[in-house]
Amino acid sequence: MQERQSIHGSWASRWTFILAATGSSVGLGNIWKFPYITGENGGGAFVLVYLACIAAVGIPIFMAEVVVGRRGRQSPIHSMRDVALEAGRDPRWSWLGWMGALAGFMIFAFYSVVSGWVLAYVFHTLNGTFNGAGSEAVGAVFDGMLGDPTTLTLWHTIFVAMVMVVLSRGISKGLEQAIRIMMPSLFVLVLLLLMYALTTGSFGRGVEFLFAADFSKLSWNSVLVALGHAFFTLSLGMGAMMVYGSYMPKNASIAGTAMIVAGLDTLVALAAGMAIFPLVFANQLDPGAGPGLMFVTLPVAFGGMPGGQVFGFLFFLMVSIAAWSSAVSLMEPAVAWMVERFPVSRNQACLVLGAGGWVLGLGALASFNIGADWLLFGMNFFDFLDFVTANLLLPLGGLLTALFVGWWLPARISRDEMSRDNAAGYSLWLLLVRFIAPVAVLVVFVANLYSKFAA
Ligand code: PHE
Repeated sequence: MQERQSIHGSWASRWTFILAATGSSVGLGNIWKFPYITGENGGGAFVLVYLACIAAVGIPIFMAEVVVGRRGRQSPIHSMRDVALEAGRDPRWSWLGWMGALAGFMIFAFYSVVSGWVLAYVFHTLNGTFNGAGSEAVGAVFDGMLGDPTTLTLWHTIFVAMVMVVLSRGISKGLEQAIRIMMPSLFVLVLLLLMYALTTGSFGRGVEFLFAADFSKLSWNSVLVALGHAFFTLSLGMGAMMVYGSYMPKNASIAGTAMIVAGLDTLVALAAGMAIFPLVFANQLDPGAGPGLMFVTLPVAFGGMPGGQVFGFLFFLMVSIAAWSSAVSLMEPAVAWMVERFPVSRNQACLVLGAGGWVLGLGALASFNIGADWLLFGMNFFDFLDFVTANLLLPLGGLLTALFVGWWLPARISRDEMSRDNAAGYSLWLLLVRFIAPVAVLVVFVANLYSKFAA
C-alpha cells in the first residue's frame, strides 16, 4: 500500500520528533507530581516500581502508539479507524481515539490550572515575595491564591492562550519552532538547578531518599500510583504520542526513539527529585508534604537560601516551559481531528477547543474555592479529573492500544513500521506488548480494586 501523507505537516527530522515527544512527556508530571508522590509513597521502593513500569509497560506501549500513528498519519480517532480497516478489523476501534481525546480534555482542564499557579509563582519569585518567608507565610500566599477564583481564572486564561497560540500555528511553524527554543532552555535550567542543589550540603540525603528502597512502605495502591504515573509522565494512553507519531518520518527507528524519549523523561524526573529533596532536607522540611511540596515547601527552601530568589525564579520558569510544551500535546489529538473532520481552519479549531478546555478548567479551579463541596465519588472536581485520567483512563487506553497492536494488528503491518529495528528487538517488543504490558496493567487494576473493596 502506498504510504499515507499527513495533511498537517511533518517533523523536519527524527530529532525533532524526539524533542517534541520529550517536550510532551516532560512536564508537571516530572517536576510537580513525581517528587510529591515519591515523597508520599516513601521514596526509593516506589521509584524502583516506577522504573519497572516505564521499562516493561511504558516503552512498549509508547512504541505501539507510534506504530498506529505513523501508519494512519491522522488524528488518533481517524488513525485507529483506518489502521483497523487496513488490518481487516472493526472500524469502531476509533472509539479508543475518542476515549483518548476525552482524557486529553480532562487532563488539560486541571493541568492548565496548576500551570497557572506556576505562572503566578514566576512573578512571585521575580518580586521576591518569598524572600525570608517561613512555611506559614508561603502557605498563606498559596492558600490565598487558591481561595481567589479571579486570580486563578486570570492565570488559567493566560496559560490556555499560550497553548492555543502555539497550536494554532501548526506543526512546523508552531510546535516545532516552540520546541526548538523550549527544550534546550529546559535542559540548561535543569542542570543549573541540580548544581544549586549540590551547594546545599544535603544532596546526599536527597539522593538517599530517592534511591534507598524500603519495601515496607509499599502498598498495592502505591503500585497503582506508580503505574498510572508511568502513563501520565510518558503522555501515554490518550493519543498524544500517536498524533506526534503521525508526523514522524518513515525512516526513523521506533524502538530507538522511544528509548531516548523515555530515558530523557526519567532523567528529568530524577533530576527534579535530586534538585528538590536536598533543598527540602537542608531546611528541615517534610518530603511527604503532598501536592503543596512544590508550591509551599520549595519556596520556603528558596526563601531561606543565598541566591534563592534567582534560583527560585529560574525553577518556576523551567516548570512553566515544561508545562507549556506538554499541554500543547494534550490538545493536538482533538485539534487534528477537528481539522480533518470539518471544513474549519486550525485557528478556528483551536478557538473552539481551547474555549472548551478553558471552561472545563474553570470547573477544576472552583474546587479550591466556591466549588469545594461539589463532590463526585467523594472527590472534588479537580481530584476527580486527576484520578479518573491518571488511574483509570490512561491505563485503560494503554491496555487497549497494546491489545490492538499486539493481537489485532497483523505482524505484516507492525513489522513494516518497525523495519528499522532489528528482528530480536521486534520479537521482544511483541512479547511485551502482547503479554507483559496487558497482564501488568490488569493485575494492578484488579489487585487495587480488591484491596479497596475487600479491605
Ligand atoms: N506527560 C505530561 C507530564 O508529565 C503530562 C501529559 C499527559 C501530557 C498526557 C500529554 C498527555 O506532565
